[in-house]
Amino acid sequence: MGRTIYKSLPDMSLARKRVDAPLLIKEDIKVSERVRSFAQGKTYLIKTFGCQANVRDEEIMAGYLEIAGFVKSGDENAADIVIINTCAVRENAEEKVYGMIGSFKALSKNNPDFILGICGCMMQEVGVAEQIMKRYPFVNLIFGTHNVSKILDLVDEHLARHKDLVDVKSFSGDIVENLPSSRLDHCKAYVNITYGCDKFCTYCIVPYTRGRERSRSVEEIVNECRQLVEDGYQEITLLGQNVNSYGKDLKNGTSFAEILRKVAELGIPRLRFMTSHPWDFTDEMLDVIASYPNIMKCIHLPVQSGSSEVLRLMGRRYSREDYLDLVKRIKTKIPGCAITTDIIVGFPNETTEQFEETLTLCKEVVYDAAFTFIYSPRRGTPAASIADNVSSEEKHERFIRLTKVIEEGVIYHATQMVGKTYDVLVDGPSKKNSDLLSGYTESGKLVHFKGPAYLKGCIVSVKINESHTFSMIGELVDDPLIAFAKQAKKELLNEPALKAFIDAKEKLLADKELNELKKQIVSLQKQMTVALRDGEDSSYEEFKAAYLEAKEKYDTHPLVLNYLAYQEDAASLLEQAKEILS
Ligand code: SAH
Ligand code: SF4
Ligand code: F3S
Repeated sequence: MGRTIYKSLPDMSLARKRVDAPLLIKEDIKVSERVRSFAQGKTYLIKTFGCQANVRDEEIMAGYLEIAGFVKSGDENAADIVIINTCAVRENAEEKVYGMIGSFKALSKNNPDFILGICGCMMQEVGVAEQIMKRYPFVNLIFGTHNVSKILDLVDEHLARHKDLVDVKSFSGDIVENLPSSRLDHCKAYVNITYGCDKFCTYCIVPYTRGRERSRSVEEIVNECRQLVEDGYQEITLLGQNVNSYGKDLKNGTSFAEILRKVAELGIPRLRFMTSHPWDFTDEMLDVIASYPNIMKCIHLPVQSGSSEVLRLMGRRYSREDYLDLVKRIKTKIPGCAITTDIIVGFPNETTEQFEETLTLCKEVVYDAAFTFIYSPRRGTPAASIADNVSSEEKHERFIRLTKVIEEGVIYHATQMVGKTYDVLVDGPSKKNSDLLSGYTESGKLVHFKGPAYLKGCIVSVKINESHTFSMIGELVDDPLIAFAKQAKKELLNEPALKAFIDAKEKLLADKELNELKKQIVSLQKQMTVALRDGEDSSYEEFKAAYLEAKEKYDTHPLVLNYLAYQEDAASLLEQAKEILS
């Protein structure tokens, strides 16, 4: 491809400005004939780094590409259009991006139609686009966070002009509605409620990469969530850099508490939100969270530091005492609420005493989980120009000490869960062991347990048997068929065959004689194992005979036969349900 056309480049001083009123754009999706015919039989791949804002942008770009006719690639090494969606929050996130761009060189060489696009927050930084174009001449498109919805126009222009294009805008940002979307998950969904950030914490690049804080209208948010409920989604996470400052820009009195209430009332089984800024947290929010059972009792509340002086230098607008007071209010109003956080160690000139204050704060709060980071200077942010007297070794040591304290808290919470039963939303087979299913509790704990694959997307009861630091091992308490039926749009539960099956099972479980028999069977099985292990053949035979007798009695009991008779009908109904769900 020939010369690069620089349509627009980022500008930090423009990015800092908060003057333009956000424009509401109702997207009218048009696909040119050129892009449509190019996309025929071609596949796309999007590689995303960074936070949920980027994940949501990936879904939107995927929506556009699919409308044009591209199909999601199943093979990482054979896609026709690849988009790398970058993050700029820390330096190490950026290094990974450079490595990844390089890895697509061969694909670009071997496929004359190949398109490589780079977008996301890193592109909003001054100088990055030019550097990428120089170092990686096979990159075809560079765009930013403000023109994600222009992806097909850029592809079209690239095809029409046979040029590589750079188009990164720096301005306060618009609100674009009617966006297409190809969601990555069919049971959990992200919904943006605000874009951008106005807090300008002194270490953070996000306000420059994502523009001013702007709230979507209540109506748009509620409509999107209603559609998700109708589509059978089980969980919605409301997204924003600071969800709880929702509505400030609308100046019509709408608050985050109101959004929470309205979405909870749509009846989504699980409602989450992130991220909350401690400075904007109101008691009204706490009351709403406490009063709706479908709002998960789990709050991500980044503290960043335990020292009031460091917090002041960070521009966080709250002190250690304010934060601890908020945590106390959360724990009082929402008993058992999980609290998670983000922490930065090694902010410029952080003293040992100030760092120790972070440790004591963590010990006091006892977080359920924490993301810990070593401070990374970001060009153009105020903190990046502060001369720093803390060595990198010292920062790493502090980081390790902090990680240990955090782990103690995480283990404490995990241990408390053993022996108790929790609702788990099943994600599907475990990534590490495909014999197990994985899912999350309401408080966001990862649980692995045995169960049938069709439970993906169901909320089931799981008893926790073992706790590890970052996950639990449990056992399914629910009858999987019934759990699945509950999920299958609930109406199946009204089917006479399923009702009869559930009724038969309840009778069977309530019967004293059958329960006794079950206990006997289990105990005889254990005795058989012990006798076999100790080589006591005659005892083994005796136990075996008793076991077979008890088993026969159980299997031929009228209540068991009754239950089995309905099982087949129920299973065939559930087959139908599986079709509904898929
Ligand atoms: N809007 C959210 C999260 C923003 S980025 C909030 O305000 O909490 C996610 C996390 O990255 C931050 O909470 C912070 O802990 C971390 N972070 C941001 N800038 C950083 C930097 N320059 N160096 C190290 N960590 C940083
Ligand atoms: Fe960054 Fe602070 Fe905004 Fe969070 S609140 S995105 S840390 S500037
Ligand atoms: Fe990274 Fe941008 Fe999110 S900088 S953390 S992807 S807002």
